Amino acid sequence: MIPAEADYARAVELLRAGELVAFPTETVYGLGADAANPAAVAKIFAAKGRPADHPLIVHLAGHDAVDHWAEQVPDAAWELMETFWPGPLTLILKKQAWVPSTVTGGQDTVGLRVPGHPVALELLRRFAALAGEHAGIAAPSANRFGRISPTSAAHVREELGDRIQLILDGGPCKVGIESTIVDCSRGEPVILRPGHIAPAHLEAVLGRRPAIEIASGAPRVSGSLAAHYAPQTPMRLIAGQRLLDYLNAQRHKGDRCGVIGHSQPPQAGMPHLWRMLPADPVGYAHDLYAALREMDHAGVSAIVVEALPEEPAWAAVADRLRRAVAGSGGN
Ligand code: TXA
Ligand code: MG
Repeated sequence: MIPAEADYARAVELLRAGELVAFPTETVYGLGADAANPAAVAKIFAAKGRPADHPLIVHLAGHDAVDHWAEQVPDAAWELMETFWPGPLTLILKKQAWVPSTVTGGQDTVGLRVPGHPVALELLRRFAALAGEHAGIAAPSANRFGRISPTSAAHVREELGDRIQLILDGGPCKVGIESTIVDCSRGEPVILRPGHIAPAHLEAVLGRRPAIEIASGAPRVSGSLAAHYAPQTPMRLIAGQRLLDYLNAQRHKGDRCGVIGHSQPPQAGMPHLWRMLPADPVGYAHDLYAALREMDHAGVSAIVVEALPEEPAWAAVADRLRRAVAGSGGN
């Protein structure tokens, strides 16, 4: 799906006027504003209902813009950019003094990413052609604060349709979960948010496996609040062997659950709404948020997710599920 010429023109016009535009990336849809315009960036926080001390990622058209936003960029960061940009990797770097604190949540660092989606790149290039070659678009995921990230234009409409003037539609997102975040501002690179680009991929470039430091309560990385990415229906994770017992008990109580399985197939005679996701982490990530959203709309009493394998390849989706459970008020 490709937006029409007029949609791009309108998007750039809105950004230049300090307004918000939602756009697709390969991970999830973003809610964008001119990153150099603090008043525009403030509108992002208002639309999402997001606390002001949560920093935003600045999206750039290419590596050339990095030095405009960041300083003291270490070699390791350049190597990661060379390998993974455009793509689902965000780097945290020391910010240039001019970068507005509305973007960085008052920190001395800035998150930068060149997204790997043709529509995002086209928008960024057109914006930079008018606003200056290093111009960037600040964009968090285009959902209300704490809720499930949108992986289609329809999801954005559902979350924020009444608060934004334009959603560029680039079809469903390929990756489906948010970018991997690597902090390169404090010496050795450290993973702050797991994602599609896994520790092993980073190790292949860096020569050593980066540590993972996922904060649970600090505002430093908003997606790392313990409760996040959450549906409104209570959610729980149950291991495969106990799943059927639990669902049987719910059936006897007269409750209809939503079930998200990956290895445990639907059981005949159960009243539950059962969705099978792919049994590989990449396919699972691609479908997860749409499945949670569907279940949230289905009027089920609880969303029951078959617990995931405890293997490194599943770490990123396991992280999102844990936070979704915490945010849903389930356990
Ligand atoms: O895939 C993605 O990263 C998507 C798409 C739209 O690019 N964006 C996204 O944005 O997930 P958001 O705001 O929902 O999550 C960005 C994360 C937040 O957890 C934020 O705290 C963290 O990046 N972040 C941004 N700047 C930071 C900084 N200077 N230091 C530490 N964390 C930072
Ligand atoms: Mg988010």
